[in-house]
Amino acid sequence: MQISFAPPRGAPNGGSWVVAAAEGGALSPAAVRADKASGGALSRALKFSRFTGKSGQMLEVAAPAGLAVSHIVLVGLGKAEALDEKSLEVIGAEITAKLHAFGESAATFEIEAPKGKVKSGEIAAHVAFGARLRAYRFEKYRTKNLDEYEKRLASISVWVKDPAAARKAYAGLDAVADGIFLARDLVNEPPNILYPAEFARRAKAVLAKRAVKVEVLGEAQMKKLGFGALLGVGQGSGRESQLVVMQWNGARKGKKSAPIAFVGKGVCFDSGGLSLKPGNAMAGMKGDMAGAAAVTGTMLALASRKARVNAVGIIGLVENMPGPDAIRPDDVLTSLSGQTIEVLNTDAEGRLVLADALTYTQRRFKPKFIVDLATLTGAIVAALGFEHAGVFSNDDRLAERLADAGRYTGERVWRLPLDSAYDKMIRSKIADVKNIGGANSGSITAAQFLKRFIEDGMAWAHLDIAGVAWQDGEQKVWAPSWATGWGVRLLNRLVKEHYEA
Ligand code: BES
Ligand code: MN
Ligand code: ZN
Repeated sequence: MQISFAPPRGAPNGGSWVVAAAEGGALSPAAVRADKASGGALSRALKFSRFTGKSGQMLEVAAPAGLAVSHIVLVGLGKAEALDEKSLEVIGAEITAKLHAFGESAATFEIEAPKGKVKSGEIAAHVAFGARLRAYRFEKYRTKNLDEYEKRLASISVWVKDPAAARKAYAGLDAVADGIFLARDLVNEPPNILYPAEFARRAKAVLAKRAVKVEVLGEAQMKKLGFGALLGVGQGSGRESQLVVMQWNGARKGKKSAPIAFVGKGVCFDSGGLSLKPGNAMAGMKGDMAGAAAVTGTMLALASRKARVNAVGIIGLVENMPGPDAIRPDDVLTSLSGQTIEVLNTDAEGRLVLADALTYTQRRFKPKFIVDLATLTGAIVAALGFEHAGVFSNDDRLAERLADAGRYTGERVWRLPLDSAYDKMIRSKIADVKNIGGANSGSITAAQFLKRFIEDGMAWAHLDIAGVAWQDGEQKVWAPSWATGWGVRLLNRLVKEHYEA
């Protein structure tokens, strides 16, 4: 979809004209113009509607007389004091959904808001960002005419008094959208196409163009280094396990600071292994690499907008399959950290992959902090559903910053406890730790397990994203596909707010 910014000029020629109203229904100047140009069609339609100007509410007038547009769409902005970046993005997404329902292909947005905390250029940029997020499609496997499914909006012209300011604000958001779309593409891809080596190849191909240094470790290298836990998970699959290391060094020259680190679970398919999942729980497990996808997408976003930060992204890519060499329940693995792990359920594999990825990250990079992302437990979905990811952290400041970034972006997180009292649940009879904790508090015991691999003094947060990485219905207005790309906006915001020099 093409997005451009231009100064207002009379009325659009073709497509839909989107204008705004405040809560209470007061028309913005552009809406007044549209109303006049259509001989009062908008105010007449208002009289017969229940439109009150609530945020995201819409009223449309089809084929207005006197205008060369297909529709006038009036969108509510809600209360001025509640209008922020996030609500503007939601509004942009809602409008786009509406235009798609019309089968519209072009639109002019002229969304002015009363004076508030968001400047007019920023308003235009965030509405456009929301529109772009909503216009995402994953249709490479459709062979039929796509209009049969849904016609897509091809272009949006955003009319704004200061187009240069809007363009500048949008550039950074466009980079973030690129990262989100990369993450969505990776998660939407079927597992016969996107296996570990293919994921690594794509990460390298996309990121190398943005001056991100990408290294890929294969099984031979990992074996030499002692990645016993990660390689254990991958050994039941014919596909080779991979560790991808992505480095973006964007901090100002002369600033040789330790990087910040993002670590992702990349299980390209989670069959459960020999502890096989039942059929209905197995479908969808192509998305079990969503943590790795979010990390990769974040690296792309940071590099594309040339963020002034040193960041590393490390993802462990495996396929969890019940092949002849698969690990068994009862096996003991020796992790890269040296700690031994008794595997009692091969379906608790994500923590094994992360254990080695976390150790490697700390030993090699000594980062300022680590945030890991993983579709780690079904229990987090039971606890928090689809609205929040779970966050576990040994660092209150990092946890609070993530919570703030979540409130700003709408990718919200909710903190759950880390507490040594849970450790007895993962005590092994024969090894240092076991990989399952029993029937209760499964997300917490998983986090306690990961904590065993965090060195003293290392600030760390673990995000369990099993409930937010993908969706069956359409729950998130800014995400039309199965994969949401969750995490890219959150991490980008965290960096932008706190770690750019
Ligand atoms: N990838 C799953 C977690 C998951 C479940 C993600 C549902 C998204 C939706 C993970 O590897 C897993 O299988 N976890 C088990 C752990 C259990 C065996 C201790 C779970 O949650 O059931
Ligand atoms: Mn599993
Ligand atoms: Zn898994």
